[in-house]
Amino acid sequence: MSALDLAPFREFFGRYVDGFLTGDAAYDENIEIKREHSLLVAGHAAMVADSLGLPPDLDRACRLAGLFHDLGRFEQYRTFRSFNDPATVNHGRLGCLLLGRVPALDGESPRVRRLVRAAVMLHNRRSLPPGAPADHLLATRVVRDADKLDIFRVMVSHLAPGRALNPVVTLGLKDEPGAWSACIAADIRAHRLAEYGQMEYVNDFKLLLLSWVYDLNFPAARRALLASGLVQELASRLPAAPEMAELVGQALADLAAD
Ligand SMILES: [Fe+2]
Repeated sequence: MSALDLAPFREFFGRYVDGFLTGDAAYDENIEIKREHSLLVAGHAAMVADSLGLPPDLDRACRLAGLFHDLGRFEQYRTFRSFNDPATVNHGRLGCLLLGRVPALDGESPRVRRLVRAAVMLHNRRSLPPGAPADHLLATRVVRDADKLDIFRVMVSHLAPGRALNPVVTLGLKDEPGAWSACIAADIRAHRLAEYGQMEYVNDFKLLLLSWVYDLNFPAARRALLASGLVQELASRLPAAPEMAELVGQALADLAAD
C-alpha cells in the first residue's frame, strides 16, 4: 500500500491557518512560524514512519499527527499572544480538542482518528503515561522525534548571532551571554533530558536542546539530527568555555554511536 497522500490535508491545514492571520506583521510572524514548523514536522514524521514499516492505519496516523500536532498553537496564540504552556494552556490538549471540532480528519476511520488525537494530546508531555495503548505511544513517539528535529532548526536559527531575540520563541529567558545553569549542564553530563522548568538563561535553552539527543526514540531521527549539522551549529552559539565544548563533544559522540 502506498503512503498517505498528505496534499488534501495540507490544503485543509493551510486554510485553517490562514484564518488566524491578521495583517499585523509582528503577530502574523508567530502564526507563520508555527505553520512552517507544522509542515516540516509532517515531513520528518513521514521520514520516521518510512523507516519503521508500520501497519497502514498506524502509518497513516503518524503522518497526520505530524501535520496536526500543533493545531492548538494557533488558538493559543490568538487567545494569549504566547506559546508558553504553563502560563496559558496545554497546546497538546487544546489541539486534541480542536481535532474533535474541526473537519480535519473527516473520512478517516475511528481508529485513525483516535490515534491522531492521542498523539496530538501526548506529544508535548514531559513523560508518557505508561498505561496508554502501545500504538498510541508509538504514534506519539514518532511525532515527538519529528517535532524535536524541527524545533532544533527553529531555535538554532532564532539564536543566530546578531539576530534580535524573539521573546515569544525564547520564552522570555534572560539573555546573559556568558551564563548557564549548572543543573541543566549536569543533566547532559548524566545523559538525560533537561527540564524546561529549570531554565533561567537563553544559554540554558541551547543546552536543553542539546539534551534532546537523549530523548530521541528512533534511529532514523538520530541519524537525521546528526546529518543536519544543527547540533554543531547550536554548539557554535554556546559560550566559549571548556565545559560547553565537553558537553557538545559527549552529545555528538552519543548521537553517532547508534
Ligand atoms: Fe507542540
